[in-house]
Amino acid sequence: MTTVIVGAGGQLGRALQKQFPDAVALGRAELDVTDAAAVRNYRWAGVDIVLNAAAWTAVDAAEDPANHDAVRAANVDAVGYLARAVRTCGATLVHVSSEYVFDGAHEGPHPEDWPANPLSAYGRSKADGDAQAGYVTKHYLMRTTWVVGDGGNFVRTMAGLADRGVSPTVVDDQIGRPTFTTDLAAGIAHLLRTQAPFGTYNLTNDGEPVSWADVAAAVFAARGRSADDVVRISTEKYFADKPQTATRPLNSVLDLSKITGTGFRPRDWRAALAEYLPTL
Ligand SMILES: NC(=O)c1ccc[n+]([C@@H]2O[C@H](COP(=O)([O-])OP(=O)(O)OC[C@H]3O[C@@H](n4cnc5c(N)ncnc54)[C@H](OP(=O)(O)O)[C@@H]3O)[C@@H](O)[C@H]2O)c1
Repeated sequence: MTTVIVGAGGQLGRALQKQFPDAVALGRAELDVTDAAAVRNYRWAGVDIVLNAAAWTAVDAAEDPANHDAVRAANVDAVGYLARAVRTCGATLVHVSSEYVFDGAHEGPHPEDWPANPLSAYGRSKADGDAQAGYVTKHYLMRTTWVVGDGGNFVRTMAGLADRGVSPTVVDDQIGRPTFTTDLAAGIAHLLRTQAPFGTYNLTNDGEPVSWADVAAAVFAARGRSADDVVRISTEKYFADKPQTATRPLNSVLDLSKITGTGFRPRDWRAALAEYLPTL
């Protein structure tokens, strides 16, 4: 099997490189996925699997009208270019989506077919990118949340603040589960290896859904700080003086029964966190 990873330099891209050590890893310098001609002219012949880890992921910067074209180029148009290339060479496309396609008003875990109703420019771009990926018959659309891996992320930020003696203010009414890239990459490999039916799969870590403040408190406790050093605040109050920021879904919890039904069990996020923190 010949596998190509695009966006290979990001958090997920790095985890995919570890999970698929024989894959051809293309960072932005090797393949800018927003360059239609570059994507079209890449040597796709003989490629069996394309793993798309490239995306615009700066959700607040995505709100700036000056960035709208760039956001859509990376999260929508590029997925269309990749989908066309993949259809031409008959490969399988793995694309990665976000719970930001939902409005978060649903009370329970979101099933894969929950209707999209994004609240932000980033969320709209991810929803439109999902539609592009859907034009490939042989596709896996991985919907994930709160990604933590080798790169900038919330857990790394909180660990840094804990170590520097800072007491951060963190929202306590956005509920979800972190997703460690090790688990996300392993789940993708599982679907491909077992030739699971194509389509959309939620994939986050398992365990009790919690707020961002709870995740921060767990990080603080692990770094020897008091969990009470994390000051809790509502989303409404936190963002009241930050009008340019993206509106976040309050419920980010994804139903994992479809992926677990394939035989893949993501770890409890607390176990994954315990393994991750000492690597920082
Ligand atoms: N991070 C989260 O919390 C989160 C939550 C839910 C879903 N997701 C989704 O999960 C996936 C992986 O996210 P991540 O956390 O790994 O993101 P990340 O660390 O920000 O990595 C994204 C990668 O995409 C690359 N990229 C951007 N534009 C590109 C282009 N035009 N051509 C080639 N590469 C390009 C970036 O390169 P540069 O560094 O050069 O910009 C970066 O290496 C994305 O689809 C994201 O939407 C993420």
